[in-house]
Amino acid sequence: MSAIALVGAQWGDEGKGKTIDILASKADMVVRAQGGSNAGHTVVVGDVTYKLHLIPSGILYPDTVCVIGNGTVISPGVILKEMETLTERGISLKNLKIDARAHVILPYHVEIDKLSELMRGKGDIGTTKNGIGPCYMDKAERTGIRMCDFINPEVFREKLKFNLEIKNKIITAVYGGTALDFDAVYKEYCDYAARLAPFVCDTSVLVYEAIKADKDVLFEGAQGALLDLDVGTYPYVTSSHPTAGGFCVGAGIGPTLIKDVLGVGKAYTTRVGKGPFPTELDDETGERIRTVGAEFGTTTGRPRRCGWLDILILKFAVRVNGLTALAINKLDTLTGIEKLKICVAYEKNGQRIHDFPTDISELEGCKPVYIELDGWKEDITGVKSFDELPAAAKAYIECIEKESGCPVKMVGVGPDREQNLFR
Ligand code: IMP
Repeated sequence: MSAIALVGAQWGDEGKGKTIDILASKADMVVRAQGGSNAGHTVVVGDVTYKLHLIPSGILYPDTVCVIGNGTVISPGVILKEMETLTERGISLKNLKIDARAHVILPYHVEIDKLSELMRGKGDIGTTKNGIGPCYMDKAERTGIRMCDFINPEVFREKLKFNLEIKNKIITAVYGGTALDFDAVYKEYCDYAARLAPFVCDTSVLVYEAIKADKDVLFEGAQGALLDLDVGTYPYVTSSHPTAGGFCVGAGIGPTLIKDVLGVGKAYTTRVGKGPFPTELDDETGERIRTVGAEFGTTTGRPRRCGWLDILILKFAVRVNGLTALAINKLDTLTGIEKLKICVAYEKNGQRIHDFPTDISELEGCKPVYIELDGWKEDITGVKSFDELPAAAKAYIECIEKESGCPVKMVGVGPDREQNLFR
């Protein structure tokens, strides 16, 4: 059995797309199990850049089966656009499978996402406004429309009618927005449903059988541990479970079927959206990391907040995911910074805190306790093995390993598939 789960170890945007792409080259199956088009994975192959939101990165390999599991939420227009772009570039979709139980994001979800964020004002979450939260709300309320309902025009009509009547009342009476027209939505979405129907099946069976047949199965995480609805920095989180346990529920398989869990982190920390961020750098160094690391959202284009590496976050990710290894990306972004800092504890009211706080109000006002390391000046983007790295870069990675208690097995030194060092 060789199933590996790959998760984001920070606040998302850790460069998972690249790491997934490298591992996908050896995988027979790649599985997405949570989230939706709020995720954005950038994969660079030679001079072509692919920006994927919903479709697993394994799609770039012709024989890899790509599964979008039951725990995901699917925007039909977004996935069809992604499919079109891939087809135009000669990428086959013959191995794409969408679970019949995945929930469908409809225009009222997007509308309510936008309007509720507006109503929250300064207290907004900073969502991607893709309708993710409202779609998961319907799932939990048991009024959601699943792919199996969606591709049956009669069932879809009935469920859409029921939902739209209520949602239009919420949109107009609660939020002062404009009601959506049933006929227009039904017509547009019936067309989407017909185009997606050939890809819909029970993917839980496919995943189970692949693992049982000892195929290489890779679970592709979206977002990151701190955005987990349960254990993340609530309420500044997404509405699904980007932690390793989320793969079991979201792909319809049991935990004993996953062998290893790889956490992907960056050599520093970033986050988009609102919420406390103890190691945030609101200065020249932060700006430099943002510019050199091109830290702008794949999905929203928003500038990401940047800061020093936070070991408490990595230790948290090791614990909540049961990580067996770490991959550290974007080490090259730190090249040229004279002195580097790594946060190893917080200090608040004279007390040292060593574990990432569960309550964000506790996190508020935490001052990072740093250790300082020497930087390096050499260009590391062409380095081919860990041993070839400058001594200071090696020491930086070894420090992460020691402080987080988890082995670092991969190090990224540039955006291309090839710019990756294995240990
Ligand atoms: P939502 O997932 O659109 O509801 O947004 C909730 C929070 O999760 C916001 O802070 C988003 O910025 C954040 N978020 C959602 N998806 C991603 C991602 O793929 N990377 C980083 N942050 C994300």
